[in-house]
Amino acid sequence: MFLWGTATAAYQIEGAADEDGRGPSIWDTFSHEPGRTRDGHTGDVACDHYHRWPEDVALMSELGVGAYRFSIAWPRVQPSGAGPANPKGLDFYERLVDALLAAGITPVPTLFHWDLPQAAQDRGGWLNRDTAHRFADYAALVAGRLADRVPMWITLNEPFVHMAYGHALGLHAPGQALLLDALPVAHHQLLAHGLATAALRAAGAGQVLLTNNCTPVWAASDAAEDVAAAEAYDILHNRLFNDPVLTGAYPDLSAYGAKELGFVRDGDLAVIAAPLDGLGVNYYNPTRIAAPAGPGLPFTDAGVTGHPTTAFGWPVVPDGLRELLTGLHARYGDALPPVYVTENGCSQPDVPGPDGTVDDQDRIAYLDQHIAAVHAARREGVDVRGYFVWSLLDNFEWAEGYHQRFGLVHVDFATGRRTPKASYHWLRAHLATP
Ligand code: BGC
Ligand code: BGC
Repeated sequence: MFLWGTATAAYQIEGAADEDGRGPSIWDTFSHEPGRTRDGHTGDVACDHYHRWPEDVALMSELGVGAYRFSIAWPRVQPSGAGPANPKGLDFYERLVDALLAAGITPVPTLFHWDLPQAAQDRGGWLNRDTAHRFADYAALVAGRLADRVPMWITLNEPFVHMAYGHALGLHAPGQALLLDALPVAHHQLLAHGLATAALRAAGAGQVLLTNNCTPVWAASDAAEDVAAAEAYDILHNRLFNDPVLTGAYPDLSAYGAKELGFVRDGDLAVIAAPLDGLGVNYYNPTRIAAPAGPGLPFTDAGVTGHPTTAFGWPVVPDGLRELLTGLHARYGDALPPVYVTENGCSQPDVPGPDGTVDDQDRIAYLDQHIAAVHAARREGVDVRGYFVWSLLDNFEWAEGYHQRFGLVHVDFATGRRTPKASYHWLRAHLATP
């Protein structure tokens, strides 16, 4: 059965930043620092999903999706990132899970979507190997409450983006600009994934997945330097996070001057490569890479041109999703578990009309074409088993604050009012068509 769903993440929608014992996360800290997010926006209130979740479950039920991918905020469950569970934090997710199940919607929680407890950051965050072990403890606490009801789990969301944006470039929390010194963040997240997978299995949890952000990498030309640069970028963005999990080995990182990975200990790769029930793949756009213009990184982003763009300026290349999925199948063969597209979607200008409705024809075209690309990949032999639209609701788009709207449902952030867009009605009709 193909799983159709929508996706969200805790910090982007919940609000209620200090209710019921929730501790601060790195995103609370970061978004409150001057200049970090556009117009200083924070997730303090966001979509107020923490209070409005029954309405959001009803919206999904009406939409007719079979699954909902949301994330659990670690700092609600363990306010200081360690120690016993905060029961009120688990209560919230239990209520949500039970309501979803009652509505016939499969809950698909992600345990980490970038909102590390600030206290864990103060102990070194993902640069500290110990964080991987604390994450496994947290996974065990959540599974202890929910494993009997939740059939599908995702450990981490996009460890690449968390490493690159959060720790190499400083554009996301925790705001570190370590460039290549951020590499241990990749390994410690992957180790956390492996340890949490073991914890979930021990608790009798159902299926376990990891979600990676993947991009087809295009060389800017056939010149050998551009091709080599594209290969180096592919290693950093895609293979660094897929190879260890699917093949038990890191790719060759010598283009990055990292021949010996001193932070990898004996036995780590066996933990990381524990068999998975599926690979979650988030796709937004391909990346076009050229040889570096000077010293530093072994590539330069040449930009994808000649395609329409979203409000964010991201190129719209639906066939890139087919290319990505068939490419994963070609690269990993039998080592590739079933694939779920755990995020795909676009931000659009979305100006409400006088009656409050949003006629987002551009999003409808985007979704229609990307869903067609998934079907094309399936026809080419890729075992794709699900597709989740990013996102159910307009929400806090990280460093862009509330400026980028990705929702099927429009949110008026002043009032919290939800209004389904034309794309919501389109998807509803699409899902209802046999
Ligand atoms: C990626 C997105 C990512 C974003 C970070 C984009 O290029 O495709 O997945 O979230 O950058 O802002
Ligand atoms: C992230 C989402 C984000 C989306 C759009 C993905 O990288 O998982 O949290 O909102 O892309 O940028």
